[in-house]
Amino acid sequence: MFHGDCLRYLEQIPDNSVDALITDPPYSSGGLHMGARQQPPSAKYLQSGGGCNRYPEFTGDQRDQRSHLRWCVLWLTEAFRVLKPGAPVCLFSDWRQLPLTTDALQAAGFTWRGIAVWDKTEGVRPQLGRFRAQAEYIVWGSKGAMPLNRRAPALPGVVREPVRRKDKFHITGKPVALMQAIVKICEPGGLILDPFAGSGSTLVAAKLEGYRWLASEALQHNVQVASERVNSVSAATHVGPA
Ligand SMILES: C[S@@+](CC[C@H](N)C(=O)[O-])C[C@H]1O[C@@H](n2cnc3c(N)ncnc32)[C@H](O)[C@@H]1O
Repeated sequence: MFHGDCLRYLEQIPDNSVDALITDPPYSSGGLHMGARQQPPSAKYLQSGGGCNRYPEFTGDQRDQRSHLRWCVLWLTEAFRVLKPGAPVCLFSDWRQLPLTTDALQAAGFTWRGIAVWDKTEGVRPQLGRFRAQAEYIVWGSKGAMPLNRRAPALPGVVREPVRRKDKFHITGKPVALMQAIVKICEPGGLILDPFAGSGSTLVAAKLEGYRWLASEALQHNVQVASERVNSVSAATHVGPA
């Protein structure tokens, strides 16, 4: 795993060489105004499974809306270059950043194909008189045409998976079971790119499902956690051609 800025990493990857982009970038969300948005992630994302103070802060989550959009287009444009034609892309987003995320995806050249839902279940903190903030979203698309005969299964539009403490190693850590459902959009044995690896949930899922992966992460602590997690699981082997 590359330790450093994803833009420095992406520029080293050859054109048309990656089979899927599956990533959970910083959302720069958590508030409609700068004062709220510039709080540390531990203050903004309290409801995500609780216990945020157990995890180190992370970086890149304080941009205002205009600069966040420009930055997303920057890294997505590099990701577009490195993906193979027809390759799928999946980007996590919350409700506030959904419009920006779908704009950024398309501005970078991808074809937007839909939104899947991560249902975090009723374990998420309820709020009196309001809807529970129970879902996050997977904005998905492809690099141009995406043939219907790709070697990938029919995927669920909603993945219902709680955040479990024993499976969470990052303030915004995603459950491995959720990521195992999502990585299957990649053709068997393919190469998955996650430029914002965090604690490595995508990489663990990729390895468990028999995929190869490429990843970057800005913070050394997360690089170490992710590496240990990936090394602790055994890779599945796929039957059939990679
Ligand atoms: C939302 S978290 C990913 C969490 C991950 N899905 C997990 O389950 O642990 C985003 C990660 O991107 C990293 N990050 C932020 N800006 C970055 C950049 N420019 N290059 C590489 N990593 C970056 C942060 O340190 C953070 O760990």
